[in-house]
Amino acid sequence: MKSNYFALNLRDDKFVYLNQTKLPLEEEYIETTEYERIALAIERLEIRGAPAIGCAAAYGLALALKDVPSNNADNKFEKAYQRLASTRPTAVNLFFALDDLKKIFDAAADKNNIYHLLKKRAIEIHEKDKEYCRKIGDNGLRVFKKKSGVLTHCNTGVLATGGEGTAFSVIKTAFDNGLVEHVYADETRPLLQGLRLTSFELFKNGIPFEIICDSAAASLMKSGKVDLVIVGADRIVLNGDTANKIGTYSLAVLCNYHNIPFYVAAPTTTIDRRTATGDQIIIESRQKNELLHIFNHRVAPEEYNAYNPAFDVTPAHLITGIITEEDVYFFPYNFMR
Ligand code: MRU
Repeated sequence: MKSNYFALNLRDDKFVYLNQTKLPLEEEYIETTEYERIALAIERLEIRGAPAIGCAAAYGLALALKDVPSNNADNKFEKAYQRLASTRPTAVNLFFALDDLKKIFDAAADKNNIYHLLKKRAIEIHEKDKEYCRKIGDNGLRVFKKKSGVLTHCNTGVLATGGEGTAFSVIKTAFDNGLVEHVYADETRPLLQGLRLTSFELFKNGIPFEIICDSAAASLMKSGKVDLVIVGADRIVLNGDTANKIGTYSLAVLCNYHNIPFYVAAPTTTIDRRTATGDQIIIESRQKNELLHIFNHRVAPEEYNAYNPAFDVTPAHLITGIITEEDVYFFPYNFMR
């Protein structure tokens, strides 16, 4: 069944997206034709999740070239490319999508029709992501041995992708096949993507769930209620080291201790084949105010400092398997192809 909400779309040459900072209390769709507005939306996490960021950036770059005279196309393309590339550093899908459009742009001798070529490519990226999400869901069925309790972190569903999700697609497909008993959604401090977004998606899909605070994961695992953990990824490198939302690494360590399988689900567009190991991944560092405030309400004095990395890197040896649209890969990983 298709979901009755979506993260982003192009309609009549206008970019429409669901403002995720307002969820789950308000479903606000915003419409724009400005790449700068799309860049801001990515920075503010109104649009977030690695594949969704890639799709949004592709539409933004295409729209930047709409109605631009050919003699100004190079200049405009470069400006929009740089602006969109500067929004968030870790999700590799962003850079793949922008580079994909750059190839189309560079190959076009006549820049008069360039908007239509870029738009076509952006739609293809979006459509491919939908296909990948479906296949990830189907491939993920293989990791379920019985009707299971699943724990997940951050948000990896419709809201985070161009399609039905990555880890979330696995959970939903498994649920539809009678393989999910219960889902535990980590609240995902500090911006609460699990509490606000994953719970929204689980609720909409009728999947039984409970939200847990991140620090409840260890005791929950000890209680025997978690059969497997499935998370998404922002960047997977050649040896399988994986960057994902801060707190993912702790879950992998806990799984290792409790002998619980730990899976990553992601499209191959999240595999960065130019980077060898996880220590080379740039981790986004976000403002301390995201910790000192809770939704615009100050909970600690301004002069306090805070360490606020958006992601961490889970070493490959802690990852039982990586579920992609191609196959499920198992440790040791070698994505050199
Ligand atoms: O900061 P966010 O909300 O963009 O972080 C998102 C995640 O970490 C997701 O797990 C990841 O992008 C995979 S989305 C399918």
